Amino acid sequence: MTPHTVDIVVLAAGKGTRMRSARPKVLQPLAGRPLLFHVLDTAEALAPAQGVVVVGHEAAQVTAALAAWYSRQRVSASSGNGPTAPQKAPEQTGSDIWRTVAQTPQLGTGHALQVALPALADSPARWVLVLYGDVPLIRPSTLVRLVAAATACDGVALLTVTLENPSGYGRIVRDGAGGVAAIVEEKDADAATRAVREVNTGVMVLPKARLAAWLAALTPNNVQEEYYLTDVVARAVAEGVPVVAVQPETVEETLGVNDKRQLAELERIFQRQTAEQLLAAGVTLLDPARFDVRGELTCGRDVTIDVGCLFLGEVVLHDDVVVGAHSVLQDCVVGPGTRIEPFSHIVGAQIGANAVIGPYARIRPKTVLADGVHIGNFVEVKNSEIGEGSKANHLSYLGDATVGSRVNIGAGTITCNYDGANKYRTVIEDDAFIGSDTQLVAPVRVGRGATLGAGTTLTKDAPPEALTLSRAPQRSITGWKRPQKKR
Ligand code: UD1
Ligand code: MG
Repeated sequence: MTPHTVDIVVLAAGKGTRMRSARPKVLQPLAGRPLLFHVLDTAEALAPAQGVVVVGHEAAQVTAALAAWYSRQRVSASSGNGPTAPQKAPEQTGSDIWRTVAQTPQLGTGHALQVALPALADSPARWVLVLYGDVPLIRPSTLVRLVAAATACDGVALLTVTLENPSGYGRIVRDGAGGVAAIVEEKDADAATRAVREVNTGVMVLPKARLAAWLAALTPNNVQEEYYLTDVVARAVAEGVPVVAVQPETVEETLGVNDKRQLAELERIFQRQTAEQLLAAGVTLLDPARFDVRGELTCGRDVTIDVGCLFLGEVVLHDDVVVGAHSVLQDCVVGPGTRIEPFSHIVGAQIGANAVIGPYARIRPKTVLADGVHIGNFVEVKNSEIGEGSKANHLSYLGDATVGSRVNIGAGTITCNYDGANKYRTVIEDDAFIGSDTQLVAPVRVGRGATLGAGTTLTKDAPPEALTLSRAPQRSITGWKRPQKKR
């Protein structure tokens, strides 16, 4: 399929009553992103000449979300070469390719297309592909076949599936010769038509030159009193325009979302697909059913991920990384050979090679850990750089710190980085040894090779190579009696 063969209309104006949510249905998240974005990403993969998203219900929220999606799209369809470059109309909202069009009120799918068509007037594409904003798993390869079927017959191509239980869907009515004759909505169907199990998925490709006339002739003479897009099929047949049906590789692709149960079902399907891609690429997933990616996970060779892990945003795991059970990693890069032990939470960090993190570590944004760093249990690190081979193995807080190489940070060490209004840095130079239960009151610096005695509250810089300690002298009081309870 060559670029700009089709225009794409995504229908997203409908109400999502059964979601029982203040958030519009098409903005409900699948794998952490709005349903509509999944559809638009697939649409973009077809390189449409022009795209229109029809919004209606909760239009303001959907339009705002669309603006975010548009801003990440191609700047121009063909970077200025060739006559097919669409003209940008600056008064319309959208990108060079995509426009948002409001449908108020919503009078049916046929009406939605009618409202969308004017935005496609300048596009050179001869075909319109209709997608639904609440059918997120549809694959580009299926759509390419559908478009090819329409162009090959120079007519209409419908994506249909045959279901065990077709209830709720429009039925595909075929003539004596087996050709498609019409689509009849369930509410308008007689018993014989209701018995048909081949249904309209809603996804179709239509010839643009004829579409305006077909839509103009629609009437709402049906049980729902709507302008049905599906009625154009019988009209095409009457005019002798070929209508063909194409089936997707899997029924899953055509599943729509109407309520939270279906949303959860599609989430599982999506996660299973992601897991299967990673398994195929050689990643070891101890249980692909207990594994979630809400974003993009990139793995090197021989990466192992234990059960219950969640990956958010953009995560890169280099070769031989092991992620322990029930860890959450968001927007981070983990260097080769590093082990993330169970129950670790890592956000916005860069971790070097052969490090050991966790169990129960919390690594927060703007943390950079060099090779061979050890961050142990109940250690929180935020906005800090920690040098090669340094260790903080137990119960510590390192915030706004710059730590050199080969530093040992004892259990219970705290950087006191915040005075209630301002944040200050702590600097610990190479080869320093920080005794347990030390408070470093920032701004403060510990010199190269310095040792801090356990329990020190450091309020002034500690010189290099020396032992620094702030500790009340120990004394013992003999003959002292512990108070006794009266009997
Ligand atoms: C529609 C089809 C039906 C098909 C089914 C597949 C029609 C008349 N019927 O029925 O044949 O089997 O989808 O799921 O087309 N929408 C708008 N504006 C409107 C109405 C709907 O944008 O005025 C959007 C909805 O947000 C939704 C899609 O169009 O994404 C389909 O609308 P919906 O009301 O779900 O149609 P169905 O009755 O399910
Ligand atoms: Mg529907």
